[in-house]
Amino acid sequence: MNTPVAFSLPQRVLHWLTAGLVFFNLLIPDGMEEWNRSIKRTGSATADQVGSANIHAYVGITILILVVLRLVLRFIQGVPPSSPLEPAIFRAVAKIAHVLLYGLLIAMPVTGMAAYYLGYDGAGDVHADILKVALWALIAGHVLGALTHQFYWKTNVLRRMTAG
Ligand code: HEM
Ligand code: HEM
Repeated sequence: MNTPVAFSLPQRVLHWLTAGLVFFNLLIPDGMEEWNRSIKRTGSATADQVGSANIHAYVGITILILVVLRLVLRFIQGVPPSSPLEPAIFRAVAKIAHVLLYGLLIAMPVTGMAAYYLGYDGAGDVHADILKVALWALIAGHVLGALTHQFYWKTNVLRRMTAG
């Protein structure tokens, strides 16, 4: 595998596009929640409710497609090595966090689709209660880690994912 000095332009665009869509679905799941409440209470939903829920569903499925694309690019193009200025233990933690983030970005849409299209309530509970909280926690750690890099270890890590 290659060892580039920064993430490629497509990798950077995909990172920020994915981040934007993930925040959208995390912060505004209202249409899907209303559809879910209606289905549980009455067994049906109005066309408007389905329309709003579909926005959450399609954004989530787009995230899944983008993540698969990212993993393919990662495999083909490689990623820059972690900075030697950063303590080894934190480099290991960052690696594990990235693997978990990728895992959650796949597990969220898969459990969501199982609940929405196949009616598996258990998958919906995992999606809405466990995975959602885990994703928020990882994103918080991820952002905190990136800022620590940038301003404490001064490794200029943000540049690798922005200007390149
Ligand atoms: C929903 C929000 C986000 C998700 C799901 C996410 C996910 C990821 C993942 C999976 C990677 C690993 C890339 C790889 O090695 O293939 C990564 C890298 C990175 N992310 Fe995020 N990210 C998010 C938001 C942010 C934000 C808000 C920042 C800015 C503080 C940020 C800064 C970075 C940086 C600097 C890297 C490169 C790390 C390195 O060079 O090793 N991310 N992100
Ligand atoms: C990374 C992508 C996704 C994220 C971040 C996300 C996020 C969320 C959030 C924050 C909630 C509200 C949880 C709550 O507080 O009650 C939710 C609920 C839900 N989402 Fe997603 N979602 C994603 C993808 C999907 C997809 C692709 C589908 C279906 C095609 C879907 C279907 C659902 C359903 C059915 C619920 C209601 C579950 C329940 O409460 O039992 N989600 N999602």
